[in-house]
Amino acid sequence: MGNKMLLFGLSCILLAYYTYIPIPENLEEPWKVRLIDILTKITALTATLFEYTGLMNFEDLFFIITKTQYIGPISDENLTVIDTDFNNIPVRLYLPKRKSERQRPAVVYIHGGAFSTGSFKMRPYDFVNRMTASRLDAVVVAPDYRLAPQGLFPAAFEDCFVAIKFFLQDKVLKKYGVDPAHICISGDSSGGSLAGSVTQLLQDDPEYRNKIKAQAMIYPGLQVIDTWMPSYREYENGPFLSRKLAIRLSIVYFTEERETINAVLRNEHMPEGSRDLFKFVNWSHFLPEKYKKNHVYRKPVFGKLNAFLPLIKDRRLSPLLVNDSWLQRMPLTYVLTCEHDILRDDGFIYVTRLRNAGVPVTHEHIEDAIHGAISFVTAPMYLHSGLRIINKYISWLQENL
Ligand SMILES: *[C@@H]1O[C@H](CO)[C@@H](O)[C@H](O)[C@H]1NC(C)=O
Ligand SMILES: *[C@@H]1O[C@H](CO)[C@@H](O)[C@H](O)[C@H]1NC(C)=O
Ligand SMILES: *[C@@H]1O[C@H](CO)[C@@H](O)[C@H](O)[C@H]1NC(C)=O
Repeated sequence: MGNKMLLFGLSCILLAYYTYIPIPENLEEPWKVRLIDILTKITALTATLFEYTGLMNFEDLFFIITKTQYIGPISDENLTVIDTDFNNIPVRLYLPKRKSERQRPAVVYIHGGAFSTGSFKMRPYDFVNRMTASRLDAVVVAPDYRLAPQGLFPAAFEDCFVAIKFFLQDKVLKKYGVDPAHICISGDSSGGSLAGSVTQLLQDDPEYRNKIKAQAMIYPGLQVIDTWMPSYREYENGPFLSRKLAIRLSIVYFTEERETINAVLRNEHMPEGSRDLFKFVNWSHFLPEKYKKNHVYRKPVFGKLNAFLPLIKDRRLSPLLVNDSWLQRMPLTYVLTCEHDILRDDGFIYVTRLRNAGVPVTHEHIEDAIHGAISFVTAPMYLHSGLRIINKYISWLQENL
């Protein structure tokens, strides 16, 4: 008995030690953030053990946890909510019930989850989409897409692209009473990246070019060639999304090769032939002075993974890796970044580059919030900053869509 207690006590101390990171003082609700961070780290540790013992893949445990948050389509007094499919891609639709004289705006919302977890069925996403439809009196379309590792690149992109193109057909817009001049494509995290890629490819297609009025991205990840920018260094261990966790979860979208994962973790995964791409993500050039702090920009260290290159520079993956003449075609853009987020600099750089290319951009930077905040707006875990972010996003849509 005594030995077991001792073992238990020691395990707790070890776990506390393993998971401890100093929580920045200027975060809102620091204790809740600490709890979220610790639970995430314990989950990651458990997932590592499960993978090591051959029980399941690392990302499977995260998938299982997100799945507990699924809810069905529930209509209310204002909205009809239905699950259907667009060209075989599952979508949830939020259709305002109120009679309307005018055609309605529409928002497509692509959920996040590092390409390997997540669904429109999750309570927090249902909450955001419901609120958007209700407050904007808009039609909201939330597609699901194949997840990694079963759905390898470009599966997630293709599914979103197919569903959105289906929706943008004149006859479909007419069926749902949508005004074709007021359509926005939105998403958060990896969904923000997908929103960016889909918008770029639609703007490139004469059939769809003028159909997107705006794109909105909430703490998006927009590139994978430099994983050692200042924000990746400062928030390497979290809170919530550590650099290692982000890489472990999202890398399976491309590969399950251990060698590649390790190279990305070392930030030495880009081959010599990729030298040209680094000018698109040069934080030393594009990041506002305030956020460069004392970080020193070093030239990229090249590795040998040549097979990786065509994939990683693909526009369907990395909206940042295109030149300014492509960026010029982007519509009105909203980018929301959070300070305590490894992906902060991806967002900042996209804002700078879009503005340099002459695209009108609204950028909101939330100094006291973490990555993933909008995923904590339903029971049992509420983050006030998550609600604040959703309100800001919807207010922007109200004024601009
Ligand atoms: C329906 O809309 C009304 C008026 O905007 C609002 O007061 C009410 O809370 C909404 N109901 C739900 C369930 O959201
Ligand atoms: C990045 O920007 C810095 C400063 O603007 C410059 O000195 C450096 O050559 C750039 N590097 C690349 C790879 O673009
Ligand atoms: C921008 O990139 C596209 C596609 O790679 C290329 O066709 C085009 O020539 C480039 N434009 C400039 C000005 O470099």
